[in-house]
Amino acid sequence: MTLLQIMADSDAAEVRVRTDNAEVIGTELARRGIAFDHWPAMPGLEATTPTADILAHYRGRVADLNADGRYKFIDVIRLQPDEGDPDWAAKAAEVRGKFLAEHRHAEDEVRFFVTGRGCFYLHLEPEVVAVVCEGGDLLSVPAGTRHWFDMGVRPDFVAIRFFEEQEGWIGDFTGDPIGQRFPSLDQLVAA
Ligand SMILES: [Fe+2]
Repeated sequence: MTLLQIMADSDAAEVRVRTDNAEVIGTELARRGIAFDHWPAMPGLEATTPTADILAHYRGRVADLNADGRYKFIDVIRLQPDEGDPDWAAKAAEVRGKFLAEHRHAEDEVRFFVTGRGCFYLHLEPEVVAVVCEGGDLLSVPAGTRHWFDMGVRPDFVAIRFFEEQEGWIGDFTGDPIGQRFPSLDQLVAA
């Protein structure tokens, strides 16, 4: 379930909007200049579905999104539990931690969630806009926007990423520990 929660950036307890209504989510994000879309789910998708098949399935949608050719690098990121790996939880915690600190990029951060879940926190002063994305959701974090991302204690998602430059994913970290004051992905969906 896609979820939007908008809070005061000075006080996470001051919740101004909380909704899972797709229309309201689209409207609230559009008002703030955040591109958000929903693409139909891929039929028969499983954890083992090859990346090439996912890209082939969404080829038309990707081509439409990239009609002007601005995205030179398009790939698929997969973070899925591996019960057979005793170190998986530790590895997952390390990866999760990298994205929890507030940062910004020189280009838009564009992600399409094929399946699974992840939460983007956009720091749009004087608000923090948390968007829990699920399979089918496409979100674009505008260039220069302060943000962080939580994949939860049990990361489980597959997403298509769109980059203009090969190193577009590199973050410029603000050093502001703001993310620590806001509910995690797991807390947001459990509330
Ligand atoms: Fe980012």
